[in-house]
Amino acid sequence: MLRILLAGFIAFLSLSSGTYARPSSYAVWAADSAIARGQGNGLSSGQPIVSYEHGEFQWGLRLLYEMTGNKTYLNYIKTGVDNIVFDNGTVHGSYTTGPTFLYLYDLTKQAKYKTAADIFRTQLNSHPRTAQGQFWHKLKYPNQGWLDGIYMESNATAWSDITSQFRLMYENTAQNATAPKQYRPLIPRGHSPEVWDRALGWYSMALVDVLDILPESSEGQTLVLNLLRTLVPHIRDAADKDSGAWQKTISRAVGTSMFVYSLLKAVRKGWISDADGSIVKAAKKAYNYAVNNWVVANADGTMGWLNTVVVGSLDTTGDFDYYVSQPTDLNDLKGLAAFLLASLEYEQL
Ligand SMILES: *[C@@H]1O[C@H](CO)[C@@H](O)[C@H](O)[C@H]1NC(C)=O
Ligand SMILES: *[C@@H]1O[C@H](CO)[C@@H](O)[C@H](O)[C@H]1NC(C)=O
Ligand SMILES: *[C@@H]1O[C@H](CO)[C@@H](O)[C@H](O)[C@H]1NC(C)=O
Ligand SMILES: *[C@@H]1O[C@H](CO)[C@@H](O)[C@H](O)[C@H]1NC(C)=O
Repeated sequence: MLRILLAGFIAFLSLSSGTYARPSSYAVWAADSAIARGQGNGLSSGQPIVSYEHGEFQWGLRLLYEMTGNKTYLNYIKTGVDNIVFDNGTVHGSYTTGPTFLYLYDLTKQAKYKTAADIFRTQLNSHPRTAQGQFWHKLKYPNQGWLDGIYMESNATAWSDITSQFRLMYENTAQNATAPKQYRPLIPRGHSPEVWDRALGWYSMALVDVLDILPESSEGQTLVLNLLRTLVPHIRDAADKDSGAWQKTISRAVGTSMFVYSLLKAVRKGWISDADGSIVKAAKKAYNYAVNNWVVANADGTMGWLNTVVVGSLDTTGDFDYYVSQPTDLNDLKGLAAFLLASLEYEQL
């Protein structure tokens, strides 16, 4: 614990004493700034917290570590995970995303990370499903599958189950996200009165990330590729004509970052063809809008991230008025982490 506190203190000191020079990479800047604020370290007000936002940020740090080889990022992931995993592998908290555990197990071979992953996987076995086999989003939302939830699952031996989650999610929810707004409330099964872009953002990021690990030429890979190829042109076309961002379709900064990441990764990996360059063009325009409108340079050298809606939930009316009235926050981690991911892709162009 002392070591963790010290590390945080040293990072804080070096930033506040003005030795921190703003890096040219936005990905590095976003990561360093969040680390300097102590975000995504497995703690909330000093108490362990199991959080998908921390998992999303750690995914960004992992990519940054793999790209730069800089161990600062790997160590921060490890610190964050060690804050929630006891030495015997028991985890403080319940459901969440587990990939970080397996990643650290692969790197360190420490048994506690494997135990932690197994515990999470076992919890998933008893997690309720709909009659079609789709996971409920949470125990408190019977029979609801949230697009957001697709970002939170994994089991390397269960590809057909995993891909069927993507398919059911698509058929029951995402498919109709592009239907004309006046028809959406009439759709019998499926989604809430309004569709918000962050939910679709989670879904599209999950598509491009699961494609990294789906076995080549498998049925599941074909299915997920088809979903991606269907969805991406709709996402491209749904961008606001003036700004190029997606904030007008409901949410704000975070949905835009998520789409930039998904679109650029899909093209870079060759999962989707962009013969006329329109997908990359849409992503670049949106990314530049994000940089110019939602990134702020703080006096201490760090960057701040504006305009992320804190939470959107379905135990509400779930309609347009609800979503646009939700408060936004400065440096919201899920928004900042999505911007880190978008920056990693943009900077590889
Ligand atoms: C790694 O990243 C940290 C944070 O940006 C930086 O202070 C440090 O100099 C980097 N180390 C190397 C070896 O580049
Ligand atoms: C693991 O360690 C924690 C903390 O010491 C303890 O509370 C918990 O009961 C242990 N779990 C098992 C399964 O031993
Ligand atoms: C993987 O998923 C399958 C089906 O969902 C389940 O039966 C199996 O126990 C899981 N394997 C592990 C190692 O958790
Ligand atoms: C989605 O919309 C299409 C028509 O646009 C409709 O055929 C389909 O049944 C809808 N899906 C759901 C799950 O409501």
